[in-house]
Amino acid sequence: MRKLTMILATAMVATMLPAMAVSAEDEVISVGFAQVGHESDWRTASTKSCQDVFSEENGYDLKFVDCDNDEAAQKEAVRSFIEQEVDYIIIDPIIATGWDTVLTECEDAGIPVIVIDRTIDDSDKYVSWVGSNFKTEGQAAAEWLKAYAEKEGIDELNILTISGSTGSSAQIGRSDGFNEVAEENGWNLIDEQTGDFTEAGGQEVMENYCKSYEGQFNVVVCQNDNEAFGAMTAMDNAGVTYGPGNDVILISYDACTAGLEDVAAGKITADFECNPLAAPFVEDVIKTLAAGEEPEKEVYMIEHWYALPEQIVDFEIDGVPQEMTEVTDEVIEAQY
Ligand code: AHR
Repeated sequence: MRKLTMILATAMVATMLPAMAVSAEDEVISVGFAQVGHESDWRTASTKSCQDVFSEENGYDLKFVDCDNDEAAQKEAVRSFIEQEVDYIIIDPIIATGWDTVLTECEDAGIPVIVIDRTIDDSDKYVSWVGSNFKTEGQAAAEWLKAYAEKEGIDELNILTISGSTGSSAQIGRSDGFNEVAEENGWNLIDEQTGDFTEAGGQEVMENYCKSYEGQFNVVVCQNDNEAFGAMTAMDNAGVTYGPGNDVILISYDACTAGLEDVAAGKITADFECNPLAAPFVEDVIKTLAAGEEPEKEVYMIEHWYALPEQIVDFEIDGVPQEMTEVTDEVIEAQY
């Protein structure tokens, strides 16, 4: 079952379209990509998506920089692309702010910037953004939890969150979306600490939670699958059981292959997708620019909410009914 989206939002791009950012036909198109890092399965899938689309055989020269979650290194990477006079720059911003100066430099150099995945919240000097609605993901997780707890007759929700990298729009959106619903419903948000979107981070935070809040929690929200893998190790070591019918409802985001395998195994109770396969849509933006046309300012990825049949419940986000997808072998096989 499928949920909304692929909303191709109309918006204003107009003011800052580059004059002519296109290589002549049959010339190789150079693309610089400043990637966040390599912290998660999701990130690996995102990198592969870009490398597959912007390959030599497709007529591209991809200059790829893994910024290892270092904000300064990411700005340096963008400046090095300007020096190399690439045709296009793709940025997946590690954090949402602090971008206007470097984006102005790109604009002055006449190089169009396409932002993917996470948003830039303090500058609009980019031609297009292709990514996920992180707040919707957070709302989906919380509204699912509400409906699932009602179905199971669980009337007290004591929640620990392992958040993503602080200041990233993925963290901000998921926390805002989830916590708004939690507060409206009077749930007990015990603690929220960052696991930096890594397995090691998730494990470390969960180890501390198991010591500090022993016997006091029945929900753990991990803001990506890798944090959930680490949290499961910590709960195993502490003798805390999780998954349907156990001590803890375990919620995760991303829904990469390994995450869905853990849903199928009855470990993760529900997994809320963040779709990393943005590159084909980025290529569409480049082709639109090359044709001298105006691309959409915002392109939202299609995403699904996953669980096993027993955990699939009806819920809505802002009055819009949501559909959930049952995790089957075929679904896992088709995932990234
Ligand atoms: O920005 C997307 C998030 O970043 C994914 O949820 C996470 O796995 C990644 O590291």
